[in-house]
Amino acid sequence: MISHRPALLCCLLLVPFAVDAAPQIGLPRGYSGEAQKLANSTYGPIPGESNVYNYYWGTDRPFPGNITDPIFPTEKSPPGADDGLWQDLLAAGWLMFEFYQQGVERFTERDFVKADMPKHTYRRIQEIRNNAAGHIRIFQNQISPSSIKPGPCKYSFPFKDPVSFLALLTILEISSMTFLTGLAQQPFISASRSALVAIAEVEARHEAWALMDLWDEDPFGGPSDTLFPYANEILESTATFIVSGSCPKENPKFPQHHSLQGKKKLPPLAAAKDSESLIPGSIITFEFLDPKNQPSFLASRRVTTQYYAVFFHGTLTVSIPIETAGWPEKRIRVMVPESFETKGVVVVVIAGSPGAETRESLVTGPAILLQQPRGLEQVLWHAGKE
Ligand SMILES: *[C@@H]1O[C@H](CO)[C@@H](O)[C@H](O)[C@H]1NC(C)=O
Ligand SMILES: *[C@@H]1O[C@H](CO)[C@@H](O)[C@H](O)[C@H]1NC(C)=O
Repeated sequence: MISHRPALLCCLLLVPFAVDAAPQIGLPRGYSGEAQKLANSTYGPIPGESNVYNYYWGTDRPFPGNITDPIFPTEKSPPGADDGLWQDLLAAGWLMFEFYQQGVERFTERDFVKADMPKHTYRRIQEIRNNAAGHIRIFQNQISPSSIKPGPCKYSFPFKDPVSFLALLTILEISSMTFLTGLAQQPFISASRSALVAIAEVEARHEAWALMDLWDEDPFGGPSDTLFPYANEILESTATFIVSGSCPKENPKFPQHHSLQGKKKLPPLAAAKDSESLIPGSIITFEFLDPKNQPSFLASRRVTTQYYAVFFHGTLTVSIPIETAGWPEKRIRVMVPESFETKGVVVVVIAGSPGAETRESLVTGPAILLQQPRGLEQVLWHAGKE
C-alpha cells in the first residue's frame, strides 16, 4: 500500500504539466514557459465568452496582460499569410492596453470627478482596458503557430493629469480608427479584413463615448471616417511612445509589415503649436518633429520641384501645392481645405505628387489634425510640456 502513494503523488503532479505545456521549438534561455501556455487559443478566458474582457474592476493587470513574455512558435510549418500584419497589430494592441492600464493604476474614480468628468469615467476606462486585453488575446490567436507572438515593451505616454490622459485617449482612439480603415487594404485573407473592421467598430464606440460623455460633444464624425491608405505610417508614429531598447529582443521589428520593409523611416510631421487652428480654412505651419530626420526638398537654382500638402478627410483627398524653396529659413504654411466639414479628423502628408498615390511619393509621415473636440491637441501638448 505504502509504495503506491509516491507513485500517485507523482502522477498528480505531472498531469497538469502534461496538459498545459504546449510543444515548443527552441524556447530561448531565461523564459519560464508560462507564456507558452497561451499558444493554445482555448487556454484562459476566451474573448466573446468571458466577462473578464468586459466587467473586471480590478487594478491588477488582467489576462493576458499579466503574461508578458513573447509566445514562441510551436510549429515549423510555413507562417500564415497575414502573420506580419497581426504581429504589428498585437504590438499596437499591447501599446493601447498599457496606456489604459497605466491610467487605471495611476488615477482613481475621484480624480476624474475632481476634473469635472462623469462619475463612471474610471469604470469606462477599466472597461476599455478590458476590451484592449481582449484585443491582445484575439491578435495572439490570429497569428499562426509558426510565428512568434510579440510581448509588450515599456511605454511612456505624455499625460500628466486626468484631463491630459483623456485627451490622449481621444486622439489614440480616433487614430486607431483611421489606421484600421487603411490597414483593411492589406490582408491577404478575407476573414482578416472582417476581423479588422470588427476591431475598428469597437474603437469607434470608445471614441463616440469619449466625445459625448467626456467632452459634451456631438458623438458623430460625419458620413464617413477618414480613409488614409498608408496605415503603417500611422503605426510608425505610435512607436514614439515605446521606451527605446525596452522590447523583448525576440520581438519582430515594429512596425514590420511588408509595406515598410527596407524603407527609410519618413520624417514625422505635425502642425506647429503656433498654427492658427486646425480647423478647415485656417493656416497651419508645418513642423518636422525629429531633428535627426528632416525632409529634403529637391531644388536647384533653375528648377524647383513642386511638392504638395495632401489632405485626407472622409473618402476625399485634396492636394495643395506648397512653397518649399525657402525652407528651412522660411517655414512651410498651408491652408486646411476650406471645403472640409469640421468633423472627425483630417490627415495630412507632404508628397512629391498630387494625391500621394504611392508610398514612394511620400516626403513625410502623416500628421493627424483632430477636429472634434476642437483644441484637444493643444490641451495635450501643454499638459505634456509643463
Ligand atoms: C488547450 O487548452 C484546453 C483548455 O485549457 C485543453 O482542454 C486542450 O487540451 C489544450 N489543447 C492542447 C493541444 O494542448
Ligand atoms: C493572470 O490573470 C488570470 C485572471 O485574469 C489568472 O487566472 C492568472 O493566474 C494570472 N496569471 C499570472 C501569471 O499572474
